Amino acid sequence: MHNQYAWYFTTAMAASWPQLAYLGLYSGAGRAQLRKTNEIVETTAMSVLRLPKPFTKYIFVDSDQRCIDALRQRIAVLPSKHDVSFIPGDVNVVVPDIRRAMPTFSRGRGLLSFCFVDPFAANLRFAAIHGLSDYRMDFLVLLMLGRDVRTNLKQYHDDPTSTRIADFINCPDWRQDLAASRDKNIVRFMLTKFDEAMVRLGYLSAEEHLRHQITAAGTGVLQYVLVFYSKNPLGQKFWRETMKSGPPQLPLDLR
Ligand SMILES: C[S@@+](CC[C@H](N)C(=O)[O-])C[C@H]1O[C@@H](n2cnc3c(N)ncnc32)[C@H](O)[C@@H]1O
Repeated sequence: MHNQYAWYFTTAMAASWPQLAYLGLYSGAGRAQLRKTNEIVETTAMSVLRLPKPFTKYIFVDSDQRCIDALRQRIAVLPSKHDVSFIPGDVNVVVPDIRRAMPTFSRGRGLLSFCFVDPFAANLRFAAIHGLSDYRMDFLVLLMLGRDVRTNLKQYHDDPTSTRIADFINCPDWRQDLAASRDKNIVRFMLTKFDEAMVRLGYLSAEEHLRHQITAAGTGVLQYVLVFYSKNPLGQKFWRETMKSGPPQLPLDLR
């Protein structure tokens, strides 16, 4: 779905926007090894370089220096050359570095961006999104609501020093709000709070039909929810098309 949306975004926008930036937060190393089969698969940080109309700028952020080094090496040997910045560090800390790496823009040289946020856990602080929200930037965010939030809720809730949930949904009073809410379903509560925080930044609400839930294979147990945010109805239109369609036909060789 990430690849499909990136394909719509660049294909439709390249003609009218001189600069298209891609930001991969929690980017990983560009390849991953599957646990059961040991098969090595390409991940988003590499597949996003395959687009027929590539982004004009790529920025990858990962806190693991080994991931950044591996990704840098993998991209360096590609036959096609891309303008890429690698930022080693915690997504929640390096927003000023991301802003420095973002292309400058002006009226005559506009910039449109797409950001994919792909953490292992609910350790994203909403302040990071807030710190980038003045760009024209669509966000595709993987919310670890099953695997992290639901599994560890008691711990996050009962430890008064834990600000993990509050920081994630930008809601310091979440414990009181949850207690006052008639619906005690934590996944729906978090989705609503995250959505409200994005709407306060000027994004269009990701109504239920724009969310994609991922469950563990064979069990039906919720793992995470993929949510999409744009300030522009056209972005939502592309996301709807993405949810409907299968994987894009990207070239097999990395260009
Ligand atoms: C789910 S993986 C990324 C997968 C990748 N985006 C893909 O398409 O397969 C999460 C990555 O986030 C990195 N990471 C974990 N916490 C981080 C943080 N606070 N800031 C930046 N990167 C972090 C890990 O090193 C790991 O590579």
